[in-house]
Amino acid sequence: MIIFDDKNKTFRLKTRNTEYAMRIVHEKYVVHLYYGGKNHCRGDACKEKIVDFAPYIAEVGESFSLDTIPTELSFFDSGDTKDVAVKIKNANGDATTLFYYKTYRVFEGREELKDLPHSRGGDQTLELIYFDEVSACVLRSYYTIFEECDTIVRYAKFENSGKNTVYIEQASACQLDIAGGDYSLVTLAGDYCCERNIAESPVHVGIQGIYSKRGHSSHRSNPFLALKEKSASENKGEAYAFEFVYSGDFEARVEKSFSGKLRVLMGLNRDTFSWCLESGETFYTPETILTYSAEGMNKLSQNLHDHIRGHIMPPRFAYAERPVVINTWEAMHFNFDESKALQYALRAKSLDMDMIVIDDGWYGNRCNDASGLGDWYVNRKKFTEGLAAFSEKVHAIGLKLGIWIEPEMISPNSDLYKKHPDWVLCSRGRKASFGRKQLVLDLANDEVVDYIVNALKRTLFGVKFEYIKWDFNRCLSEAGSAVLPAERQSETKHRFMLGSYRMHRLLTEAFPDVLFEGCSGGGGRFDAGMLYYCPQIWASDNTDPVCRLPIQKGTLLAYPPSALSAHVTVTRYNKLETSPDLSFRFNVACDGILGYEMDITRLDAGQETQIRDQIVRYKAIQHLLLGGDVYIPSDLQNGEYATLIVAKDKSEFVLLYRNTGAEKRDRLPLCGLKPSAEYEDAAGNRIKGDSLEFSNVCIQNKSDYSFLIFYGKII
Ligand code: DGJ
Repeated sequence: MIIFDDKNKTFRLKTRNTEYAMRIVHEKYVVHLYYGGKNHCRGDACKEKIVDFAPYIAEVGESFSLDTIPTELSFFDSGDTKDVAVKIKNANGDATTLFYYKTYRVFEGREELKDLPHSRGGDQTLELIYFDEVSACVLRSYYTIFEECDTIVRYAKFENSGKNTVYIEQASACQLDIAGGDYSLVTLAGDYCCERNIAESPVHVGIQGIYSKRGHSSHRSNPFLALKEKSASENKGEAYAFEFVYSGDFEARVEKSFSGKLRVLMGLNRDTFSWCLESGETFYTPETILTYSAEGMNKLSQNLHDHIRGHIMPPRFAYAERPVVINTWEAMHFNFDESKALQYALRAKSLDMDMIVIDDGWYGNRCNDASGLGDWYVNRKKFTEGLAAFSEKVHAIGLKLGIWIEPEMISPNSDLYKKHPDWVLCSRGRKASFGRKQLVLDLANDEVVDYIVNALKRTLFGVKFEYIKWDFNRCLSEAGSAVLPAERQSETKHRFMLGSYRMHRLLTEAFPDVLFEGCSGGGGRFDAGMLYYCPQIWASDNTDPVCRLPIQKGTLLAYPPSALSAHVTVTRYNKLETSPDLSFRFNVACDGILGYEMDITRLDAGQETQIRDQIVRYKAIQHLLLGGDVYIPSDLQNGEYATLIVAKDKSEFVLLYRNTGAEKRDRLPLCGLKPSAEYEDAAGNRIKGDSLEFSNVCIQNKSDYSFLIFYGKII
């Protein structure tokens, strides 16, 4: 519910458990009052007082300084000398920016964004309308509330209503000023093969933050940030989260003043973005999802999970059962053909899998990673009768078919590059760097997007397939576009993302029943922007189960299990003869959407039975992964990982417990179940709602790891 109290000029945005409040003061300024638990807002957070050296607005009085007052949005060189949300370079050459509040509008639902991924639905929206007299720009700041999820979505729209061209040099989707408190900054940090590890550090005086300048949200950082009260735990204490619905360069910054005030900003990366806004043009920032929890980090994650499943993922797939796949990559890399693929398909069917995914190598002259990208026609040496005929054979076996693509890239050794060397991203007068021997297509050029979409549509026409894995295997560099004029070159990376989103939209619209899985050399583009089109994303190229545990734990902090694609693999590096064994690998993969990557034609009878049994067990719990609440028990030791997923009505749960080196324990306190209840598995083992007694249930001890899957129903 959004309420405007005309007497106090106060807006109150209320969700099920939270409240966000702001006030218009001196007619032109919007100050932030409160974000936290519902009905706790006192509204006195913005007392004005004279502060030496703080620039003040003379017409209002010495005690009114934008430098000291908490605001909803802050503007460059406007007297707020902290890190600010918005900066516009005016036609007069300076970048002093000051938007005054003019009016507001409240409406049901939200505005649809055509070009950007965004949260679907929404209960109500508050639109605050500001105007900057010098740049003659209108700024509309949006707050859409999602009452059931306890989330608020924020973004901004700029309109140049003047005659002169201006440049947007900083565009944050949101700002949150917090009066004070002792917080830790929680982010998801990593690198290739070790993405999204939870990183926690105290918020100190000064600026801290995360960013990507790599052209994708990246393996190194993730567009997610949380502030957690120092004393908060998984189940207790206050925390805020910010999640950017965007897949390209971003920044999220936290500034703490000496007096303890905090400001959080999230938006496009100011170093790699600027936008030329001509008279009459408009510009939208991507959006940020905000949430608050008074019940620790688990509730924070649950709010985000509910929001992503209910409002970001394509509704057609969000809660739908997902196929268990055999993917060809780890076992065969580029070395396969139709007959080998059909052998895999036959075996996959006998193992009760649902789908075979033909990964990289089915198209063009793609025999290794040095050629073929951009040539989206089937490789007739590998599939002599074509893809359509192959797809019929796969379906005749009783299996579904998935196909890998990497449509944003081009190999210099390809027919497409010979024809269109000008279709790659490259700054003028420079040589483009390579990444995995490939270049990046210039998606700022609509012609390139249309060409690739049409080529894929042509090739896939008549092919019976149910899944696409969409890969993206390098970072952007020398990001210039041949189709943009000099003054718009610094728009290239954002325009590349808009082109990529258009490509995602056109292909998902062309194949509405096809499930898309995102991927970027593992989890280099694991973000809410991608989840808008691809309801699941390959989490990491590191499939060693022990290494996967911290990656998956971090991922689940911000994204639901149904977003996380996790396979049981046997690779060159993690051979089956070495520990951990198949059952441990399976236990770890159960954190997300299960699949297999291994040579399934060489399994022994025991392993085949084991896999069949795993798939039955997985299918019995998949509905919990698709719609349940995730709880991480709070006193886990180093080396101990547990994911507890509980049905919304608490009638059943699955506990995935792994110990990779911590002290053995007899009892694990649980949260999230009905404390007074008892739950029982099919074998009659029982768990009390408040704790797991290890003596009561069987833990298999394999190698050095102890682990357990307990699926129980209330009795
Ligand atoms: C990187 C992905 O993460 C892998 O799973 C695989 O699809 C390769 N690319 C194929 O080139």
